[in-house]
Amino acid sequence: MKGLILAGGSGTRLRPITHTSAKQLVPVANVPILFHGISHLVAAGITDIGIITGETGAEVTAAVGDGSALGARVTYIPQDEPRGLADCVLIARDYLGDDPFVMYLGDNMLQHGVTELVEAFELAARTSEHPTLDGPVPLPAAQLLLTPVPDPHRFGVAELDAEGRVVQLVEKPEDPPSDLALVGVYLFTTAVHEAVRAIRPSARGELEITDAIQWLLDRGERVDAQILDGWWIDTGKKDPLLEANRLVLETIEPRVEGTVDGASRLEGRVVIEAGATVVDSHLRGPIIVGPGAEVRSSFIGPSTAIGADCRILHSELEHSVVLEGATVEGVARLSDSLVGRGAVVRRSEQRPRATRLLVGDDSVVELG
Ligand code: TTP
Repeated sequence: MKGLILAGGSGTRLRPITHTSAKQLVPVANVPILFHGISHLVAAGITDIGIITGETGAEVTAAVGDGSALGARVTYIPQDEPRGLADCVLIARDYLGDDPFVMYLGDNMLQHGVTELVEAFELAARTSEHPTLDGPVPLPAAQLLLTPVPDPHRFGVAELDAEGRVVQLVEKPEDPPSDLALVGVYLFTTAVHEAVRAIRPSARGELEITDAIQWLLDRGERVDAQILDGWWIDTGKKDPLLEANRLVLETIEPRVEGTVDGASRLEGRVVIEAGATVVDSHLRGPIIVGPGAEVRSSFIGPSTAIGADCRILHSELEHSVVLEGATVEGVARLSDSLVGRGAVVRRSEQRPRATRLLVGDDSVVELG
């Protein structure tokens, strides 16, 4: 079985971070989201992984390389425009060959990865090789992962029959047939290749994977579903990203490899990476402080990830993700924030007192 990770797209909902970099490389607990996805596939025994890249392809390639550091063999498949999830399958045809594959959205995170989904599919494939008294059992053409959501009208929604097989899929329905939303992980056999060739672009101009799956259903193909165990987050926006960061930080093992002076206090799950320094500060975990970062005369509260080489000086900061090389200085209380690479947030001593900004396109600044 192969993996197909989608790491192209336009990332409009995470601008301005995505003006300059790939949203799949934004870190969660200081590890790029994409790396979490690759590791989940490798843990499920899938080491041959194709990665779809878009305009941030060079950055993705530089970060992941040949994938060997994560135990994978990665092949890059460039997509010239984000033409939809089903287009990704279309352009990966040669790479995928006749193997079944897991398609994984590169900006999604799952608590328990994909191992159970892959095992359920393999079991279904094995049992279908042994016909029952009722006749042969068809091999599933696809296996979907679903999760109950309070607001199904915002998602692709599946209707299931009594046996738990998918009967129908509807995209953002006004009148949802169930509360089961499609999670960003799909398992397909080669049957999907004909489907993605047969469908036409939707009203928004994309080749939709839901249309391809519906095409399979209309042809009488078997599509199985599994209900997700644990959390799933589509990290494509700031608040879900902070939530994923919070959840992953809750599972880290405390470890201090950098230096912490005697005037500082660490509470709870705190990771201080090698080369980081903490001086005269109070850190209440879960927190990770990246290599080479400096924290001085500050309070850092729960659910905060500070990237490599950041400087947090005379500030109070919590429930935030600070990317590599950023500086936060003299800021009384920063919360629920995503601070981009090399960004500077500081209190100014200049007179007259005023808020002075150099804010990138599509930035959001909420003054407290
Ligand atoms: P989305 O988050 O649905 O789309 P997007 O990246 O265009 O984001 P936004 O809505 O903020 O503009 O995409 C899900 C994942 O699939 C994401 O990792 C990007 C990837 N993708 C592709 O690789 N190619 C595509 O054609 C599309 C639509 C998405």
